[in-house]
Amino acid sequence: MNNNKIGVFDSGIGGITILNELKKALPNENFIYYADSKNNPYGNKTLDELFEIVCNIVEKLLRMNVKLIVIACNTATTKCIKMLREKYKNTIFVGTEPAIKVACDKDFKNTIVMATPGTINAERTHELVINNKKENQKIYLLPCDGLADTIEFGTEKQIKEKVSSLLSKYKNYNIDAIVLGCTHYPYAKKYISEEFPSATLIDGNKGVTKQVVKLLTENNLLNSTNTKGKIEMIYNK
Ligand code: DGL
Repeated sequence: MNNNKIGVFDSGIGGITILNELKKALPNENFIYYADSKNNPYGNKTLDELFEIVCNIVEKLLRMNVKLIVIACNTATTKCIKMLREKYKNTIFVGTEPAIKVACDKDFKNTIVMATPGTINAERTHELVINNKKENQKIYLLPCDGLADTIEFGTEKQIKEKVSSLLSKYKNYNIDAIVLGCTHYPYAKKYISEEFPSATLIDGNKGVTKQVVKLLTENNLLNSTNTKGKIEMIYNK
């Protein structure tokens, strides 16, 4: 069977922000998007629970003959991607990591990294700080317990209030950048900017897209037909 689809998954609507970028860069590709709302939030799961959840999704996508899997979720990436690469050796994975490197390379001085508790506690996130932070830079790792699920299931008012209470303690820290280290958080951009109007908001979506294009090209997997690709949505509610 022809493996001509790209699988993308997240714990709900978050990864759609990545899917949109992918679609723009790769208009002829076919995508399957798996929205695992039923298991949201991933950010509070133990490693064993989360690994079992993501293995089930990976196996579903592989049965649908995907040629590459995008983990459109920082939590699943920072906690599970190494184990997934070991378990599914023939599968090409692209993960999503908090864009800490981007913030450090751009020389921001006081950066908040907003992410789920799972991502904040992941060894990989601490590696990203150690590997990229310069001496004159400060990185504040902020576990945003409950924000991804409020975005997935809550009202605009609840999202605004949650953002405001999470960010309030940094009001006097001269924050110049905020890393959106969860793919759900771009949906809360306007409320985050209201708290810190002069801070630059950074997400990792462009980096993910670049990596997908690179790996498809290197592995000769780009869809060579000239027809517009399709998106198949699967909701696990
Ligand atoms: N959107 C996900 C992330 O990027 C997970 C949110 C959650 O389910 O906790 O981390």
